[in-house]
Amino acid sequence: MWPYPRVLAHRGGGTLAPENTIAAMRCGLAHGFRAVEFDVMLAADGVPVVVHDPELGRTVAGQGRVPDFTAAELAGMDAGSWFGTEFAGEPVPRYEEVFRFCLTHRIWMNVEIKPAPGFEAATGRKVAALTAQWLREPAALQALSSGWQAPLLSSFSHEALLAARAQSPELKYACLFDTIPANWRDLLQQVDAQALHTNHCNLTPALAAEIKRAGYGLFCYTVNDPAIARTILDWGVDAFCTDRIDLIGADTR
Ligand code: G3P
Ligand code: MG
Repeated sequence: MWPYPRVLAHRGGGTLAPENTIAAMRCGLAHGFRAVEFDVMLAADGVPVVVHDPELGRTVAGQGRVPDFTAAELAGMDAGSWFGTEFAGEPVPRYEEVFRFCLTHRIWMNVEIKPAPGFEAATGRKVAALTAQWLREPAALQALSSGWQAPLLSSFSHEALLAARAQSPELKYACLFDTIPANWRDLLQQVDAQALHTNHCNLTPALAAEIKRAGYGLFCYTVNDPAIARTILDWGVDAFCTDRIDLIGADTR
């Protein structure tokens, strides 16, 4: 059984806000979303930051690569102007800021561990260690006792997931696949994963049924068409993330 919300705001605020920023998390919340997906990568000083691309330039004004700058340097870069002038100066947030925002507002997190190439194990270890540490704090323990769910950590990187699991076996994990490989059962078992996350474009009803029969949660990215959302939910998909938080409600059944 899937203990988490069914619809997540992808990268915080989908198409309505600059991705992976606190502004995006506020936007998702304002649209009624109590569940978000976002991407976490290590800065040069080993501090996890919330950003999708290892290269600067698309969403973050700057040149170079995320792992070449400290979290403080990245916080000084503009991750909002690309989206709209009203978001000018929106920083690249640290994972800790987003975690605390979500905890405060009782938002469930799907934390996608998104290592820059070469930093797979280090990213998995650090994200897991910090998540486990913050979940032991009194405010988190109180939230957990009143029904808030601990984050689910997912990754396309098997190496990152294995390192995260070894670091913090008490957390919940999910394997992420663009196309589900033939050996998905082995990979999920190695990580002791709760769920399989996949591109809805590459999922079939037969595969969905097989994954559910095996007892795993099944999550799809990124579903922006309400008709597709209905179809995959009928196939037994437990949850999905969407960019169209204006079109697909957080309460979609
Ligand atoms: O976690 C699901 C989805 O976010 C994976 O793709 O590229 O949007 O991070 P991407
Ligand atoms: Mg992602």
